[in-house]
Amino acid sequence: MARVASVREAATAEAIERAAVALGSGRLVAFPTETVYGLGADATNPRAVALVFAVKGRPRFNPLIVHVPDLAAATALCHFNETARQLAAAFWPGALTLVLPRRRGCPIADLTSAGLSTLAVRVPAHPVATRLLRATGLPIAAPSANRSGHVSPTTAAHVAADLADRLDIILDAGPTPLGLESTVVDASGARAIVLRLGAIARGELDRALGRPVPVVDGQASRLASPGMLARHYAPAARLRLEAREVAPGEALLAFGAAVPRHEAAMLNLSPSGDLLEAAANLFAHLRRLDSLKPGGIAVMPIPNEGLGEAINDRLLRAARPA
Ligand code: TXA
Ligand code: MG
Repeated sequence: MARVASVREAATAEAIERAAVALGSGRLVAFPTETVYGLGADATNPRAVALVFAVKGRPRFNPLIVHVPDLAAATALCHFNETARQLAAAFWPGALTLVLPRRRGCPIADLTSAGLSTLAVRVPAHPVATRLLRATGLPIAAPSANRSGHVSPTTAAHVAADLADRLDIILDAGPTPLGLESTVVDASGARAIVLRLGAIARGELDRALGRPVPVVDGQASRLASPGMLARHYAPAARLRLEAREVAPGEALLAFGAAVPRHEAAMLNLSPSGDLLEAAANLFAHLRRLDSLKPGGIAVMPIPNEGLGEAINDRLLRAARPA
C-alpha cells in the first residue's frame, strides 16, 4: 500500500512541476479541475492517449476534452466563430467545453478526438489545473479520472480507489468545487447546441448569447452514456474486417508480423502485435489509407482483448457507416 500513499500527493508547486514532467514524457497524471478530477495525458501524443483508454477500461474510443490554460492556446488549435467567441468570453476560465473545428495542422492526436474533425476544448478554472497546464506547455486530454462505468471523482481519494496503481501522480487539492462535469456545447456550426448538460445551466448560456441554446435531441435518454452524443468518424472507403487476404485494388490495414500479400498501399497498426500501439495508430492510419481513395480497405483481425475491444468497436462502426 506504500505505492498508493506515494501516488496521491498534495498539489504543491514541486509536485505540480513533477507532474508536468511526467505528462511531457507520455505518462498519466490525475489533477483537479473545478468540475471533477481529470485523468490527464499529452493530447498530442497518441500513445499517451491510448494509455488513457487502457487505464479507464473504456470499451470504446469516446472523444476526449482537451484542456488548455487560456483562450490564446485554444485559438491556436481550433477555429472560433462569433458565437464561440462570445461563449468563451462569458465562461472561460470555467465549466464550459466548446466543440469546434480543428485548425489545419492542429497537433492534437487523431485518437484524442476519436478521428473527428472537431475538437472539444476547455479552459478550466482551478489554480492547480492552470499551473499544471502552464508548466507543461502542452494541451492535456483528460476524461474524468474514474474507471469506465464508475461515477466521476470529486476527491483525490475517489481517484486513488479507482486508478492508483495505474498513475504516476494524483495531485490532491481537496474536493472539487463544482462536483459536476462541464457543460459541452457544439459551437462548430452557425447554431450552438448543448451536447451535454453540466455545471453551467442552459439559462446561463441563453443569457450570454441573448437567444435560447437548444439541447441536442434525446439528451435525457443519452445522459447515461454521454460519449454516444458524438458523431463518429467513418472513412469513405468500404472496410472489410477480419481480412486474411487482400483483394485487387484494396488497401491493407495490417496488424502483427504475418502480413498477407498486397499490391496497393499497406499500413501496419502494430507490426509487433501491441494493442496500445495499434490504438495509437488507428485513426491516423485509417485516415491515411482513406485519403488514397482505394477500392476498399482490408482490415486484418485484431484480438478482442484489452484495447482490442475498443479498436474492434470502432472498426465495426466504420465498416457500416450510418
Ligand atoms: O468537467 C469535465 O468536462 C471533465 C473534466 C476533467 O474536465 N471531463 C470530462 O470528460 O467529463 P469526459 O471524457 O468524461 O467527457 C467528454 C465529453 C463526452 O460527452 C464527449 O462525447 C464530448 O465531451 N466530446 C468530446 N469531444 C467531442 C467532439 N469532438 N464532438 C462532440 N462531443 C465531444
Ligand atoms: Mg466521464
